[in-house]
Amino acid sequence: MTEYQTHEHDVLVIGAGGAGLRAAIEASAAGVSVGLICKSLLGKAHTVMAEGGVAAAMAHVDDRDNWKVHFSDTMRGGQYLNNWRMAELHAKEAPDRVRELEAWGAVFDRTKDGRILQRNFGGHRYPRLAHVGDRTGLEMIRTLQDHGIHQGIKVYMEHTVTKLFVEGGRIAGAFGYDRERGYLRVFKAKSVVVATGGVGRAYKITSNSWEYTGDGYALAYDAGADLMDMEFIQFHPTGMVWPPSVRGILVTEGVRGEGGVLRNKDGKRFMFDGIPENYKAQTADSEEEGWKYVQGDKNARRPPELLTRDHVARKIMGEVRDGRGSPHGGVFLDIAWIKSRLPNGAEHIKKKLPSMYHQFKQLADIDITEVPMEVGPTTHYTMGGVRVDGDTQMSTVPGLFAAGECAAGLHGANRLGGNSLSDLLVFGKRAGEHAAKFAREREAVAIDAGRVDAAARAALAPFDRGAAGGDAEGPYKIQYALQDLMQENVGIVRNEADIKKALDGIQGLKQRAGHAAAGGNRDYNPGWHTALDLPSLLTCAEAIAMCALERKESRGGHFREDHPDKDPAYAGFNLVVRKGLGGRPELRRETIAPLREDLKQVVEENK
Ligand code: FUM
Repeated sequence: MTEYQTHEHDVLVIGAGGAGLRAAIEASAAGVSVGLICKSLLGKAHTVMAEGGVAAAMAHVDDRDNWKVHFSDTMRGGQYLNNWRMAELHAKEAPDRVRELEAWGAVFDRTKDGRILQRNFGGHRYPRLAHVGDRTGLEMIRTLQDHGIHQGIKVYMEHTVTKLFVEGGRIAGAFGYDRERGYLRVFKAKSVVVATGGVGRAYKITSNSWEYTGDGYALAYDAGADLMDMEFIQFHPTGMVWPPSVRGILVTEGVRGEGGVLRNKDGKRFMFDGIPENYKAQTADSEEEGWKYVQGDKNARRPPELLTRDHVARKIMGEVRDGRGSPHGGVFLDIAWIKSRLPNGAEHIKKKLPSMYHQFKQLADIDITEVPMEVGPTTHYTMGGVRVDGDTQMSTVPGLFAAGECAAGLHGANRLGGNSLSDLLVFGKRAGEHAAKFAREREAVAIDAGRVDAAARAALAPFDRGAAGGDAEGPYKIQYALQDLMQENVGIVRNEADIKKALDGIQGLKQRAGHAAAGGNRDYNPGWHTALDLPSLLTCAEAIAMCALERKESRGGHFREDHPDKDPAYAGFNLVVRKGLGGRPELRRETIAPLREDLKQVVEENK
């Protein structure tokens, strides 16, 4: 028997970004005991990478905005594969969640008459993103952290969960380890919320930091839950491309919201070419009109740089492929040009985009008020995730909930910028509320000692392999091989042959991961941690590739060059992966419930 420590809570929240924190706050406010696990230090989360703002139809800048327009924009962005109930709740509840955050101390930028300021973002019809310069996610995390810390939530920093326990058909707890000292821990819980963010680390170029290895998806999948829409990965159009050490770091869409334009090496604004049919009527057809829109002219249409992220990312790739890119394989994002229109342009840029100014100054030695940035697509967000009930956020495993990027549904085939922050507030709250309710109404179930022992043995296996020698191999090479494989074969532009290559490659990497070894001892040992991250990464990569192969069309974040058009035959279902007999992933089509009549009308009215 391996030694471990046991902790007991009514609700266990795994992941302490915006969704996890919001869930923990809500559960705790409902009077149950809450444990909150973060993989790194509290406050370090991908939430901070949603820089430009939180989407909520508050209508502070344009009074034509309301939940119905937000709902319609979200559905159109998601190409109607969205869980429409989630899109409805999200659009209706986001304004209250933002106001609540303000009441908890978030300091938003202001309109001249003192209300929360809102800015333009891709795919949103009206200025809708409440923001704090270009540090909105950071301010949100700070606020939630400050608020949560006073609620008696027990926080386990630097812990990773490797297993969820299911007993008698419902969730019973989790197994994990303390990354600093290597202690093993059992967490008994009546309900569990997974809120571990996405799986950007399965790709080579990503805005995600090291924590984002798809843990929540893999834990839920292993526990018997469904993963849905995994083919839809969002490649944010603008990440840094130079110098190499910072490749992938996010350049907020807020730059384009403030008037930044994309140019190729010849100085041409290439986004004016090839505007998708369904966005033509809303898109400016001249530079002048685009600038007027940015300046708040309600009769002007939005510049093409503010089309949805999938389209912008593919346009950038096209310029690079056709030899019109920047020196380091991207294109140019120019905000400095607005100085020709605004007398105090440089100061304006620094005020609106302070983090971007410092990021480029410090990391690339570039002054963005003077010269354009070099940017290119970066893996940013996973639209898919754990399939949940729209109202409660419970998965198909009783007592297991998912929230934020970890849950699927709200965004369908593509997410609009800023909808991630509102997502995590709205559905973090709902997950916490319903997880607490679930826990209050039930007794705890015992966890089988044999299962705990097996989880402990699995967690320590990399050390045994290291000691045994033989086929043992370090975990980093396997992770890098996976990142290359996914970037090259299941990236922005996909085709059948490449995806099949990725699926074959993943099988080989799974074999190798079974031999991934760690040396040394259990005190902070990154090699050991990486060996334990590999199964999650591979589970997710396989689900992504399987769904990408099955969807023989192009829609939202999924582009197949061998099936470049949207196919109505693929419009009516989501793809779902579940662990089948023998532990193999099984894929099926899940029919989307018909849109409620009143919501259908809302969509029609806002076409
Ligand atoms: O560009 C950004 O600031 C990212 C926002 C988001 O992903 O929601």
